[in-house]
Amino acid sequence: MSVKPKVEPTKSAKKLRTLETLRGFRDILPDEQAAWDKIDDVARKLTQAYGFGRIRLPALEATSVFERSIGKDTDIVEKEMFTFVDQGGVKMTLRPEGTASVARAYIEHGMLNQPQPVKLWYLEPFFRHERPQAGRYRQFWQLGLEAMGSDDSVLDAQIILMAYNFCKDLGVETIVQINSLGTAAIRKSYTSDLAKYFKGHAKKLNETDLKRLQRNPLRLLDSKEAGMEELKAGAPQLIEYLDDETKQHFMKVLEYLDEAEVPYTLNPFLVRGLDYYTKTVFELVSTNPIGENGSQLALGGGGRYDGLIPLLGGREATGAVGAALGIERILLAMKTANAMPDSRRVADVFFCQLGEAARRKGLKIFEKLRQSDLNVAEAFAKGNLKAQLEIADKMQASIAIILGQKEVLDGTIIIRDMEAGAQEIVDVEKVVGIVAKRLQDNKKKQKE
Ligand code: HAM
Repeated sequence: MSVKPKVEPTKSAKKLRTLETLRGFRDILPDEQAAWDKIDDVARKLTQAYGFGRIRLPALEATSVFERSIGKDTDIVEKEMFTFVDQGGVKMTLRPEGTASVARAYIEHGMLNQPQPVKLWYLEPFFRHERPQAGRYRQFWQLGLEAMGSDDSVLDAQIILMAYNFCKDLGVETIVQINSLGTAAIRKSYTSDLAKYFKGHAKKLNETDLKRLQRNPLRLLDSKEAGMEELKAGAPQLIEYLDDETKQHFMKVLEYLDEAEVPYTLNPFLVRGLDYYTKTVFELVSTNPIGENGSQLALGGGGRYDGLIPLLGGREATGAVGAALGIERILLAMKTANAMPDSRRVADVFFCQLGEAARRKGLKIFEKLRQSDLNVAEAFAKGNLKAQLEIADKMQASIAIILGQKEVLDGTIIIRDMEAGAQEIVDVEKVVGIVAKRLQDNKKKQKE
């Protein structure tokens, strides 16, 4: 047996490697498109049914849009934003999420003058400088749903129902975890009591949690550090601080969810990582774990943000609620649930050509077939008929059209029935009409 000597990478090999995608970024290749197309389809149908209009957001925003909305002491703003100063000296950030931009757009375009609520959706990539792992990227896609201009609890339930059904329609079962954070004032007094409680146990906190205690005590509630479960169980519970109005709002959301048969569990420790939330917050978790080592990563999350539009300069008391679903995580869950759509290309008609003259003439004939809305495919780069028919077979084409030297000279073309193998020579000018009719007849026969 010969052993290959270990070769050190040459300088040019090293250089080549720097031309790979950046860490946490990835290409989405043709094989994956069937699943992405399905996601587009399901998103479109769902949002149309519920009367949401699509918004396409800019990739870059002034950094302050996110700092003011998401909150300066959050992980996203503190550590995860791709921020830079451009050639003109403007500080800007690649959007880490969509809610802040949608709220900015609502104010900027005077949408408060339209009938309320204004319902918008987006399906776009977002950027966070997180440690990459399964289901966590630096560029990831979200389907976002935002309903602005109403504080009605039915909208909280409707957004949750839509998020739940988006997953369900893609073959992914989820459970909704839900909590209420109360109004900003309630949260403030609760946070102060929570901080007092944890200060009393400061000795048991590690460095990360001590930092949370100092900067954003609410975040201690979703700490996964050792020993925290026990401490959290003894901590004051937010639900006990809710006033009547907030409690009623929450109860109504739960009643609507019961009515719509959306499975949920109450999670008093759910606080979410963005500061703009008031009242309802929720996350959707797959019933099959998708994270590293079976950990539970949320497929989506959201909540009410009644304070955000006023905070960004919009009209006071503009209630709003929304959700965002992580597309890469849903794809992982679809894989786990064996719910990925078949990505093989299928065609009804396959065009074969033999010889240079047929190839030349064929380009135009193929265009005619395509423009008549037939589902046609080709392999002009192949010369051999057998290879072309094999591809036709793989694509499950029921008809192959064959153009050879002789047919070019005669102004004819061959139509082959792929199943029976029978062939017929027809006038090339009539081929589109004949093929369309044959396909119709085949489909009728299949139905009978
Ligand atoms: P979020 O919880 O930060 O909320 O993100 C929503 C979803 O985006 C997560 O549940 C997850 O599925 C996905 N996601 C987040 N970060 C990553 C990542 N690094 N890699 C892959 N997927 C990721 C928001 O963004 C809020 N804007 C949601 C919202 C809308 N609230 C109200 N309206």
